[in-house]
Amino acid sequence: MRALSTTDAENILRQLYGISASANRLPGELDLNFHIRTDSGDQYLLKIYPPGRDGSVLDLQNKALAYLGSTAPDLRIPRVVTTQSSDETGVWVDPVGATRSTRLLTWLSGKLWAEAKPDVAKSGPELGGFLAKLDKALVNFSHPTMVRDYLWDLQHIDRQLEVIEQIEPIVMRETVANVISRLTNDLSPQLADLPKQVIHNDANDRNIVLNADGSLVGLIDFNDMLYSYRAGEIAVACAYVMPSHPDPVGTVLPMLAAYHSENPLCEDEIELLLDLIEARIATSICMAARQIVDDPGNEYLLVSQKPFRALLDYLATENRELAIYRLRDACGLPANSKAPKIIRWLEQNRHQFARVCDFDLSDPTKLLTIDLSVDGSDMPDADASPSTAELSEHLFKKIKDSGADVGIGRYLERRNLYKSDRFLIADSPEQRDIHLGIDLFMPAGESIYAPLNGKVEAFANNSNRYDFGPVVILRHDTDDGIPFWTLYGHLSEQSLDRLRVGQAIEQGDLVGWVGNYPKNGDWPPHLHFQLLTTLLGMGTGIHGVATIGQLDAWESISPDPNLLLGIPFRCRAGVPSSSQYLTSRRRRFLGKMLSLFYEQPIKIVRGKGQYLYDDQNNRWLDMINNVCHVGHCHPYVVAAGQAQMAQLNTNTRFLHDNIVEYVQRLVATFPQPLSVCFFVNSGSEANDLALRLAWTYSKRRDLLVVEHSYHGHLSSLIDISHYKFAGKGGAGCPDYIWTTPCPDGYRGRFRYADPEVGQHYASTIKRQIDTMLARDRPPAAFIAESLGGVAGQIIPPPGYLRHAYEHVRAAGGLCIADEVQVGFGRVGSAMWAFETQGVIPDIVTLGKPIGNGHPLAAVITRPEIADAFNTGMEYFNTFGGNPVSCAIGLAVLDVIRNENLAANATHVGGLIKQGLESLQQKHSLIGDVRGVGLFLGAELVRDRDTLEPATEEANRAVEALKHRGILLSTDGPLDNVLKIKPPMCITAADANYFISELDKTLAELTLP
Ligand SMILES: Cc1ncc(COP(=O)(O)O)c(C=O)c1O
Repeated sequence: MRALSTTDAENILRQLYGISASANRLPGELDLNFHIRTDSGDQYLLKIYPPGRDGSVLDLQNKALAYLGSTAPDLRIPRVVTTQSSDETGVWVDPVGATRSTRLLTWLSGKLWAEAKPDVAKSGPELGGFLAKLDKALVNFSHPTMVRDYLWDLQHIDRQLEVIEQIEPIVMRETVANVISRLTNDLSPQLADLPKQVIHNDANDRNIVLNADGSLVGLIDFNDMLYSYRAGEIAVACAYVMPSHPDPVGTVLPMLAAYHSENPLCEDEIELLLDLIEARIATSICMAARQIVDDPGNEYLLVSQKPFRALLDYLATENRELAIYRLRDACGLPANSKAPKIIRWLEQNRHQFARVCDFDLSDPTKLLTIDLSVDGSDMPDADASPSTAELSEHLFKKIKDSGADVGIGRYLERRNLYKSDRFLIADSPEQRDIHLGIDLFMPAGESIYAPLNGKVEAFANNSNRYDFGPVVILRHDTDDGIPFWTLYGHLSEQSLDRLRVGQAIEQGDLVGWVGNYPKNGDWPPHLHFQLLTTLLGMGTGIHGVATIGQLDAWESISPDPNLLLGIPFRCRAGVPSSSQYLTSRRRRFLGKMLSLFYEQPIKIVRGKGQYLYDDQNNRWLDMINNVCHVGHCHPYVVAAGQAQMAQLNTNTRFLHDNIVEYVQRLVATFPQPLSVCFFVNSGSEANDLALRLAWTYSKRRDLLVVEHSYHGHLSSLIDISHYKFAGKGGAGCPDYIWTTPCPDGYRGRFRYADPEVGQHYASTIKRQIDTMLARDRPPAAFIAESLGGVAGQIIPPPGYLRHAYEHVRAAGGLCIADEVQVGFGRVGSAMWAFETQGVIPDIVTLGKPIGNGHPLAAVITRPEIADAFNTGMEYFNTFGGNPVSCAIGLAVLDVIRNENLAANATHVGGLIKQGLESLQQKHSLIGDVRGVGLFLGAELVRDRDTLEPATEEANRAVEALKHRGILLSTDGPLDNVLKIKPPMCITAADANYFISELDKTLAELTLP
């Protein structure tokens, strides 16, 4: 039979589909695949099936793709192009008279995962999320052919036994046979209960299409789809992502987490996932064996199977329980399901435990925390590699000099003490270096006792250097019979002589004695005390230190042992610096809606002035932070807060000098008649109180608000924040809220060129008020930021607020100025931004910069409005106006004055604005430059005439500037405005640096 040519393909296209295009042959297992490109650049995949191909399977695919078109229109998958007679499958008689089915599919452009070899940490989560959406969209799909007899179906892995004898060498055959036997015998009851649905079933690395930057384009080839285990979908993807990675399980955790967060798996699916992954690998090995039978010389098949075989070997020997814990943890479940119960029991019984040594661990004056962390202060000289004797002498001298009896080595401390090969992970840069116990440094020979009843589980002398030395493990049980274990490491050899496995040990009984180096594993004398919720089948070989990559699971396996020791302070070291760890913990415990700056979030550990530093001591110029107004951790402000905190902190129901001094100083910065102040704790509280004041005073309810504005996160403020109620997840405009256009002279209804632009925007308010009055709904108040922050650094045109206030007041409404973002001299020429518009509001709300990061905020108003609020209902705010907050507020005012920060805002802000304007001449991307003082914005557009927003470019600029040592954010309804609002202490040199780096960044920004 003659092979079909590209000409045949081109004929089919013309005859069946009415498309004239050129065809290129692609590799394919059974079907003939052609890449089609039309003259106009449209691309397709043409599939020509062998004669006799089962049409019902093609129909399954056609129907599934059509179904996905309606349930998941955004998913990037091929779509079916019908023939000229509207058939999804075409019929073509080939040159030798055989009838063949054809299908034409849309083409996904990009690189296959197998060729792109992307960074799994970046591309994996996107793939996981994609597959989850796909499965969610397919969950209710059904088709007569979805249950089919197919060798790639993991449900029928037993069919692979047909070829098991073909697998060479025998050890591999046995490994594969073990996998199959486990699935078909031991696990079959659990597998039978797994959720099933139609799945793609082949997210292998040749079916995943990526962009050049590793982001996902989509998934192709629905040939293998069928009704099978839902978890099979992600298992297949894992099987292809895992090979050649030193920590295969760790590699797929973020991908799994992303799947689970979109389409939650049940616990059984998570626990059987590794078995399903192995099933897929075993299937692939068996399928290759079938092909080898037909094509014995196929070297390629053998080579391509190598990584799979290596992975299967690896998975067969890896600690399965630990691996499952890691998968569970990635899905937000307690790694060990029993751990929470054990921890709760220990917490409930914490006062019942006996001392583990003769020293009193409940007396903090007798304990000294020893910092052995990577950059810790208590190592003699990290580079000097001290001998055990030197280290021992050094530590015990420290303990003695401090008057303590016992040195405490912390739980979860990351140390670089663990130097021997024992702590290295094969083929991996990772090392086990995070301490899972608490060390009690005390002299050799001290007695160690059991803190609670138990029995001897195991003991051994792990005599290798840096191992546990003589070690004992006791087993205990909670009242509900859940077992847990305590481990005592680095004992003396004699300790083991008295013990036998199973021996009952009562609370307070002697366990052994602290050993000495070198026989204790060659450490300074101490007890390594560890709590364990499982022994992972490792007995005395259980680990006392973990890798950062496995820490998530180990925290559940080895919880904080201080639950038993009763040390009255935290013995847990700061969480080691892994942004992956922190990100996953945040997602789990703080909720998914909490966003993070940057694709790769940064862990800031310290701030000084206008700079922030990460845990690697990288420095960034902070162009975002309008909260730490006078500079991060300003020493004067810090000292004021510390001093007052050490003296007194109480509430406003007691007299205190600070509140009176502060209120006078603060109020003095406002024009009359603004003279009464309420202290609260956040900008939101301030705005909520402002609304209450306005409602009470005006005895009206309706409010006028500005489009794209944001005033806070309380329910009352979501109601008045157009950015929220009209944005994603918003419930729409409440009936008592009346919106008016944002006074945006660049892109809004009225533009800069109009000399009366301010008045025109104000007239829109007047018109809205007329409507309100006509409906007998007069406004209680008009609330607006004096300059629009979230709206995209909007500087209202001259006259806007003046006219707006006139209209509002003429209708008997109050004018509220939200100065939460823009106050305290940021505009340079004045303390308050409303002053730049020549108005005096009735109520002003303050927040963010007022406490330089300390939660403090305020409402300032006229006496009549404050008096009207005195209805008999007390206004009490537990924290608002407390002595510490007032001390900090005072210090902030001092620094603004002493360091002449408003003048600095004018000077440096002016330089930045000039710099932006000159960049605007050079880079067409900058459509508009606007701002006053240190409240500036640059709006990016792709076209200066159409004003097409350059949102993607703005976000890429922010990412790129991060790599140039500058932190910047975007804002505005189209998210295309570079928002500049640095601490007020920024210098001219910083401004120049920012402009030159932005210049380079914009030059490098080429469209995708
Ligand atoms: C203009 C404006 N008002 C009010 C708030 C709410 O302040 P907080 O987050 O302190 O409650 C914000 C916060 O971003 C704001 O930008």
